[in-house]
Amino acid sequence: KNVAIIMGGYSSEYEISLLSGNVVYDNLDKSKYYPYKVHILKDKWVMVDDDENEYPINKHDFSVNNDGTIIKFDVVFNAIHGTPGEDGLIQAYFNLLGIPQTSCDYYQAALTFNKRDLLSVLKPYGVKTAISHYINLGDDINQAAILDKVGLPCFVKPNKSGSSFGISKVKTNDEFMPAIEKAFKEDSEILIESFLDGKEISVGVINYKEKVTVLPMTEIVSENEFFDYDAKYLGKSQEITPARISDKMTKKIADIAKRIYEVLKMEGFSRSEFIIVNNEPHLLELNTVPGLTTESILPQQARAGGITLPELFGNAIEQALK
Ligand code: DAL
Ligand code: MG
Repeated sequence: KNVAIIMGGYSSEYEISLLSGNVVYDNLDKSKYYPYKVHILKDKWVMVDDDENEYPINKHDFSVNNDGTIIKFDVVFNAIHGTPGEDGLIQAYFNLLGIPQTSCDYYQAALTFNKRDLLSVLKPYGVKTAISHYINLGDDINQAAILDKVGLPCFVKPNKSGSSFGISKVKTNDEFMPAIEKAFKEDSEILIESFLDGKEISVGVINYKEKVTVLPMTEIVSENEFFDYDAKYLGKSQEITPARISDKMTKKIADIAKRIYEVLKMEGFSRSEFIIVNNEPHLLELNTVPGLTTESILPQQARAGGITLPELFGNAIEQALK
């Protein structure tokens, strides 16, 4: 099977995506799959061979002309974090072309990438969240009223982004407006959330061999103020799998994470983040194209669950082809 591993993307997470995509490439079972690296960048969509030669993608049918031979792909492995890989755009494109792809479908991607909408859809199911306030670019901002609602410290986040780009923890009144400006650089929508003071737990849920499977959970201990970009990628955090929580709490979180996967009709990978406050897991967000480098959380969780990277990635392709 010809597999297009799509990587890059148009967002700040583009470098992380290239790392994820290359790890997928290196770890696909080459006796079963014929992988190609496809870079989806703002200025070009190209297939890149081992010698770094680039071949333009025909966007009309997602094929490549490789010196006269037309290559078509049987399946797409999506390793693009952020837009257009995690927000539904590329899912809709492959859906229209009829090419199977490893992540969830376009609606699930668009919904989950929008933190405000995800949390509000899940609230009626009893999923707990932070107290939050939402603003669009151009809205009047009543700082006193917002801080009265969410309290200090609080988090200011772009509503649609990943890898903590544009996120600030705000501890004083003076830090509020600069945080808002920083977040607006990433997105035209902002979420301001109350600070949840508790253990952070990351939960991978995948469809493994036709079964919704909750992987061993990861506890995140950040040396920084929160699990920010440096903590995520420059080693300034400890990620402990399995998380040091009771069996009862593990089951409680697993039940919620699995229910979310089923309620949203998710497919492929998902990794959701919770903070436990007063014995109640509070949902922060859900990633549908989680980091896939060897050190990333979901691959760590798979290994802890006895699933190798070739098995994890091969399974994603097999599920996509079903
Ligand atoms: N957005 C990053 C890649 C993650 O969730 O792992
Ligand atoms: Mg994220």
